[in-house]
Amino acid sequence: MTTDILVIGTGISGLTFAIKVAEESPEISLTLISKGDINEGNTRYAQGGIAVVRNLKKDSTEKHIKDTMIAGDGTCNSKVVKFVVEEANKRLDELIKWGTAFDKKEEQLDLGIEGGHSEKRIVHYKDQTGKQIQEVLTAKVKSFSNITILENHTLVDLITDHHSRSKMNRCYGAYIISQEEEEIIKIGAKITILSTGGAGSLYAYTTNPTVATGDGLGAAYRAKVQMDGLPFVQFHPTALRDKIEQNVFLITEAVRGEGGKLRNSLQERFMLKIDSRGELAPRDIVAREIQKQIEKQKENFVLLDGSEISEKRWKSHFPTIYNTCKSIGIFLPKDPIPVVPAAHYFCGGIIVNHQSESSLKGLYAIGECSATGLHGANRLASNSLLEALVFSHRAAIDCIKSLNQNLPSKSFYDKLPEWNGYDYSKNTTIQNVQVLREQLQQIMTKYVGIFKTDNGLERAEKKINNIYLKVQKLYHENKLTNGLCELRNMVSIAYLLTKQAQEIKVNKGVFYNQNYAR
Ligand code: SIN
Repeated sequence: MTTDILVIGTGISGLTFAIKVAEESPEISLTLISKGDINEGNTRYAQGGIAVVRNLKKDSTEKHIKDTMIAGDGTCNSKVVKFVVEEANKRLDELIKWGTAFDKKEEQLDLGIEGGHSEKRIVHYKDQTGKQIQEVLTAKVKSFSNITILENHTLVDLITDHHSRSKMNRCYGAYIISQEEEEIIKIGAKITILSTGGAGSLYAYTTNPTVATGDGLGAAYRAKVQMDGLPFVQFHPTALRDKIEQNVFLITEAVRGEGGKLRNSLQERFMLKIDSRGELAPRDIVAREIQKQIEKQKENFVLLDGSEISEKRWKSHFPTIYNTCKSIGIFLPKDPIPVVPAAHYFCGGIIVNHQSESSLKGLYAIGECSATGLHGANRLASNSLLEALVFSHRAAIDCIKSLNQNLPSKSFYDKLPEWNGYDYSKNTTIQNVQVLREQLQQIMTKYVGIFKTDNGLERAEKKINNIYLKVQKLYHENKLTNGLCELRNMVSIAYLLTKQAQEIKVNKGVFYNQNYAR
């Protein structure tokens, strides 16, 4: 199979990119790969919203820039921050034009506030912003005849010069596994886009869906694409302690923006002692303090007291949280919500330029799998959907332009070699995959979580390496499956993340090694 552009991952960034290219250039063929149902991914679960300066009477782009830089602990790329914040309104207006609904108050967009923001600027749709965006973009993408969608297909590896034996240092598409037939398809592409999200599944407790296994990151690592900042894993301070149908459930920071208070088992508002911004301090500070409180007290959670928010407001503004809590016997606003921090967002990833192109020609990365320089050491709340919109737009313009350049002919892509990994000796159900996946999650949570130490990282490195060797053996001996692909990516990224963490000797943003405590 060949296509002009191969887009791997169907969250806000992949879909926005595809829509933009398809609208602008109907002659360009696009193929979209989704690991599960097209709607399943991190975007769908984003509750909070998109940070955009809308109220110019009070807010300004300068303030949003400053908040982003403060949250990033002085490590953001100021040029990138500036253009992302300045382009925000145009990108939001497009999303609205495409049919996305956002909450309104007196005909204006209703703006919320979250941790680290000095003004109200979060555009949202109840507590279902991501779901709303995902559904609108999915419907739109399905309306284009030049877009082919392959659901339930997983990225195996990028096709590079290593496979083509040419000397161009380019990406030529990818090998993809169909989950139903477990067949590996070669997709030759002039341009490949990774919009595969982060790797929250490396941790035992994560707000991410199980599909977030860092597939694009793993494939990029194997293709020697430049990557940075993987140890900057952001933990969201408030996930519901109780899992809902095996899944961790996020309690959006917007609840604290509406007046929710954090209390320990002694009912103390502990954040007030730590930071003048209290519950609305940047989330690295809040997550660390919650973790400390949990370690100090008997209960393994702290309480989010939402009693200042009226029941009417809970129901209209946070209906998913209201109903989910009710389903497990927590009646809002009367009952406090037991919360814990959970792995939430990868601030680092594949290094890209201002057009989202990676160090490998023909390979772009957009969304959470990329490292654009916007987030630095700690992402400001609700800046991720914004980053996805701005960089997918820029990548789309750049890709349309570069498709007009002198690229190899179709026959070159047709002649790329087929996948050569069919030479396996075993074809058994691999029980070990789930066991190894859980072991890896335990190691990452214990040694490479919110608090790290030099010794812990060293132990993690050895243990991850042992798992890596076992995964390599499984990979070489067995028929490839979706689960094995995921585990192969997870273990590679866990290893790289731990190695990069060992190099960091100064704590910044979400990164905290107790041996270097300030
Ligand atoms: C939240 O709603 O608290 C999460 C939003 C984000 O991660 O930016």
